[in-house]
Amino acid sequence: MHAGSTKVGVRLGALLAIFVSGLLVARQPLASLLGSGRLGFRQLSWEAPQFQGLAQDGRPVSEASLRGHPWISSFVFTRCLTACPLITAKLRLLEREIDRPDIRFVSFSVDPDFDTPEVLRGYAAKWGPTDSRWTLVSADRHVVGAVASGFKVAVGPSGDPADPILQTSLLFLVDGSGQVRGAYDSTDATAMRELRVDASSVDRSSPATRGPSDSVAPSAQQDETEATASREMRGRDLFASLGCGGCHDDARVAPSLRGLYGQNVALEGGSTVRANALYIQDSIRAPSRLLVAGYGPTMPSYADFVSDEQLELLVAFVTSLSSSEGGPEPAATRATTEIDPECGMTVTVTDNTPRATRDGKHYFFCSDLCRDRFLRTASVGH
Ligand code: HEC
Repeated sequence: MHAGSTKVGVRLGALLAIFVSGLLVARQPLASLLGSGRLGFRQLSWEAPQFQGLAQDGRPVSEASLRGHPWISSFVFTRCLTACPLITAKLRLLEREIDRPDIRFVSFSVDPDFDTPEVLRGYAAKWGPTDSRWTLVSADRHVVGAVASGFKVAVGPSGDPADPILQTSLLFLVDGSGQVRGAYDSTDATAMRELRVDASSVDRSSPATRGPSDSVAPSAQQDETEATASREMRGRDLFASLGCGGCHDDARVAPSLRGLYGQNVALEGGSTVRANALYIQDSIRAPSRLLVAGYGPTMPSYADFVSDEQLELLVAFVTSLSSSEGGPEPAATRATTEIDPECGMTVTVTDNTPRATRDGKHYFFCSDLCRDRFLRTASVGH
């Protein structure tokens, strides 16, 4: 494993060099445009950067293939444990809120050597039901660097070994003719509301190219099933569609919610609190008020995104996670998941999951690539 970490370090170093040069290319860094205190910037206009890459399903994707669609871009990578889960959580919430079928959500991986389309596919799956409008792009490192500087942002070292790359928390709105129209800080609730409004009204500004693949209207799905399913199951569906598992299925990102109900929770600052229904409700509505010890304020507030009834359903589901036996198997169960020792991703184990045995212990991997890397370090190292 040690040999593996060194290799990762070198690779990230090379990546950072690219981004530093990207910063130099961007003559007018957006940060200076935004100024202090301004968390979003609308009515911008410049040409969005060109790129070519692969989507999570292996299909080629480029700025040309997005013509005619307004799109919202973000920068993330799958090994990132704090900033990116929050960005992705916000993006998924936007997807729920913006129900125009022609819009696209485009997440560029800033760690493309690691984030192959396959890895990105696994990452997307963690975040709940597929929205076909969401594309995760794996492109060459220099392409990603050019895209970052094309959006006038740079990515630099964070100084935090757990999150080696600090990438921008800005989301960009591009209209259908390929013009950047606004930059919005995903950590700012007001900016996110502005983005929702702007994205709902922005022009496609070029001939309509609405095709059969545009017929997604994910927000309607949720109501249909509600009448029949039980409260817990409705809560579970909501938990999945809000992308809660994107963080809570990985204990390095967020605490496991299994068995939470009725426990004493150690909070940041040394106090403890009993996890009753009210605590769970507050955790969802105002997560930064009571932080679980060992975790930062990564979780977004869902106050604006769920109704009182939906909040109750979520609480009912989280509460039900305490009983490990009986009832339907909850979606958030960690019983059949393993951590990939090479890339650190949570892997849901099925018959097809790549696996290896070393010293009598079984290991599971997110991809053949990771398994091969793991096996290589085994034969070279130690
Ligand atoms: C972006 C990552 C992220 C997402 C998405 C997320 N959470 Fe969290 N959640 C966290 C983190 C980190 C903590 C621990 C820090 C804190 O208390 O806020 C947490 C804490 C909690 C707690 C308290 C847990 C405890 O052990 O006391 C509950 C309950 C919870 N989340 C429920 C949810 C629900 C329900 C959703 C979906 C609506 C959700 N979370 C979405 C990151 C996330």
